[in-house]
Amino acid sequence: MIAWLDGAFLPLAEARVSVLDRGFLFGDGVYEIVPVYSRRAFRLDEHLRRLQHSLDGIRLANPMAPGDWRGLISDLVARQDFDDQSLYIQITRGVPAEGQPLRDHAFPAAARPTVFVYAQPLRTAAPEQKAAGVCAVTATDPRWQHCDIKAISLLANVLMRQQAVDAGCAETVMLRDGFLTEGAASNIFVVAGGLLLAPPPSPHMLTGITYDVVLELAAAHAIPHAVRPVSEAELRAADEIWMTSSTREIMAVVRLDGETVGAGVPGPVARRMDACYQQFKRDVMRA
Ligand code: PDD
Repeated sequence: MIAWLDGAFLPLAEARVSVLDRGFLFGDGVYEIVPVYSRRAFRLDEHLRRLQHSLDGIRLANPMAPGDWRGLISDLVARQDFDDQSLYIQITRGVPAEGQPLRDHAFPAAARPTVFVYAQPLRTAAPEQKAAGVCAVTATDPRWQHCDIKAISLLANVLMRQQAVDAGCAETVMLRDGFLTEGAASNIFVVAGGLLLAPPPSPHMLTGITYDVVLELAAAHAIPHAVRPVSEAELRAADEIWMTSSTREIMAVVRLDGETVGAGVPGPVARRMDACYQQFKRDVMRA
């Protein structure tokens, strides 16, 4: 696996950053994960736009122009010896320049951002897991008010995901003030009475690139859908629940807090959307 760190390509195992990096000390940075199919980055412009939104959210200047990002990414993708990749991009506020305090919460007067990009083989869900679906638990969303920033400070998400794993499940579905926000590392959709429901983008969730594709496909294929707040009662009574992300794609949740969701298997709308999604990926890759 070949990585890019601060201007140079190198084997991932050799990449090193300073312990004074603000990413390490404060979690002061942002990231993106871009799926790459057959060496083509999926929805790269959208990922780069979301990266810019995250950088704006933490008041960090983008160290590269969009064209330079595209060039770097295509170079990095070409250097790997596997075709389907999960590309990770991280930018932190870097190491304070000499003479600056080593550790101060406020931004250093001068620091060069640390830019780190690497690719690993993409591991999507096994067909058997997709066919069976997964279980999830719920929890009160413990996070801050800027979940639309894809920040590397992920402690709340880490604890939420571990809570699911401790319960033998795949995801924790979070609720804030009685309404669905998202999963620890995914967006959540529900189907109720044939209607696909998605919580509206807000500072309480990260608007997934997959989330956007799902809604575009729902519109394109005339799947009835609405973007509006989803209550806890609607979540618990749903016929179908899905988690979506770049790496999990569309994954049906078939048990929630130990209760069976719908028929206890991935529902018809999930299966239809997954077929649309796989076809869409193939079309995009051919274009
Ligand atoms: N996470 N919400 C959160 C909190 C996420 O971490 C993610 C993805 C999503 C879905 O976004 P997208 O469809 O763009 O992948 C929603 C990635 C996969 C991760 O951190 O591993």
